[in-house]
Amino acid sequence: MVAQVLSHFAIAFCIAFVLVSTASLALELNVIDKCWRWNPDWTNNRQQLATCSVGFAGKMTDNIGKDTIYYTVTNSSDDPLNPKPGTLRYGATVISQKVWITFQRHMNIQLKKPLVISSFTTIDARGSRIHISGIGCLLINKVSNVIIHGLYIHHCRSGESGSVMGPNSKIMNFGGIDGDGITVARASKVWIDHNTLYACQDGLIDVTRGSTDVTISNNWFKNQDKVMLLGHTDEYSSDKNMKVTIVFNHFGPNCSQRMPRVRYGFAHVANNLYQEWTSYAIGGSMNPQIMSEANLFIAQKSGKKEVIWKLGSSSKIYSVRDVFKNGASFKATGSGSIQPNYNDQQRFPVANAKSVQALTNFAGVLVCSWSSIC
Ligand SMILES: *[C@@H]1O[C@H](CO)[C@@H](O)[C@H](O)[C@H]1NC(C)=O
Ligand SMILES: *[C@@H]1O[C@H](CO)[C@@H](O)[C@H](O)[C@H]1NC(C)=O
Repeated sequence: MVAQVLSHFAIAFCIAFVLVSTASLALELNVIDKCWRWNPDWTNNRQQLATCSVGFAGKMTDNIGKDTIYYTVTNSSDDPLNPKPGTLRYGATVISQKVWITFQRHMNIQLKKPLVISSFTTIDARGSRIHISGIGCLLINKVSNVIIHGLYIHHCRSGESGSVMGPNSKIMNFGGIDGDGITVARASKVWIDHNTLYACQDGLIDVTRGSTDVTISNNWFKNQDKVMLLGHTDEYSSDKNMKVTIVFNHFGPNCSQRMPRVRYGFAHVANNLYQEWTSYAIGGSMNPQIMSEANLFIAQKSGKKEVIWKLGSSSKIYSVRDVFKNGASFKATGSGSIQPNYNDQQRFPVANAKSVQALTNFAGVLVCSWSSIC
C-alpha cells in the first residue's frame, strides 16, 4: 500500500517535472514578450502591452491611461466613406481620441479601400483570429503613436486613386495604392508587433516619406517577393532621419528580398531569424546605415548565400555577432560597428545569436486563450 502510494507519487512527480521543464524550454521569451506574457490575467491588463515595446519606437505609454476609449469591433463589414459603428474602420479612423481596439470574435475583414489609422490608436487582436486583406491594406499616414498587434495581413491588393473617410471625419483623397500590407508614411512612434504577413501584391511593410521612430518586432514574414522597404525613393532624402528597429522577427520561408531594403536612414536589425532568401536578405542604397547584430542567417542549401545587396560606396553596413548557416555570407562595408544610441525608453539587451531560434519561436500572431497565459 505504502509502496503503491509512493510509486504513484513518483510518477506524478515525474510528469510534473517533464511538464514544467518542457514549458520552460518552450517559453524562453524575448525581452518584449517577457514583459507581459507571463501574466495569466492579460485580458484584464491589455494596456500592459504598451509598456513592453523596445527599440526606436520607445515605450508606447502615450497610448494608455484613464482617458483611453475601449472599443470592440463587432462587425466585419467595411464602408470606406461612411464607416458604421462596430466596424474596425470606425474605431481606427473615426474615433480621434486615444482608443484601444479589440475584437469580439474571429473575423475576416475585406477592406474596400485602405484602412486609415488615426494617431493614438492601438489595434489589439489578442484572443481573436483577425484576417485583413483587400485593397490597401493598413495606412499609417501623417500620424503618431500607433500600435498594431496580432493581425494576419495578406492578399493586400493595389487600387486606383479615390477617397476614403480620414481622421477627424474628413473625407480624404489618396493616390494610387500599391498593395502593401502596412504603409507607414510621414509617421512617427509606430510599433508593429506579433503580426503574420504574407502574399501581398507589392510589399509587406513600407516605412517611407520621413517616417521615424518605428519598431517592427516579433512578426512572421513569409511567401513574399519584396518584404520590407525602408526609405521612399532615391530622391526622398529626408528619409535620412529615419530610425527603425527590426527585432525578433522570423523572415521566411519563401521570401525573396528586402528584409529590409534601406534607403538613407538607420536600421538596427537584431536577433532576427532568416530562413532562406532567394535574392538577398538585407539591402541598402543611398548611403544608409545598417547595423546587423546577432541575427541567425540560414541560407538555402543550394542557391543564394550572400546576405547583402548594396548600391554605391558610402553605405555603412556592419555585421556584429551574427551567425551564418548553410554557407551564408555577409559582405560588410568594413569591420566597424555603429551604435543606435538608444535612450532609456528604447534600449534593450541584444541576445546571443544562439538564442535567436528560441526567441523567435513565437513570431507572428500568438494563439491566445482568453483564460490562461497568452
Ligand atoms: C454589419 O453591418 C452591416 C452594415 O451596417 C449590416 O448589414 C450587417 O447586418 C452587420 N452584421 C452584423 C453581424 O451585425
Ligand atoms: C511562395 O510565395 C509566392 C508569393 O507570395 C506564392 O505565390 C507561392 O505560392 C509561395 N510558394 C509556396 C510553396 O508556398
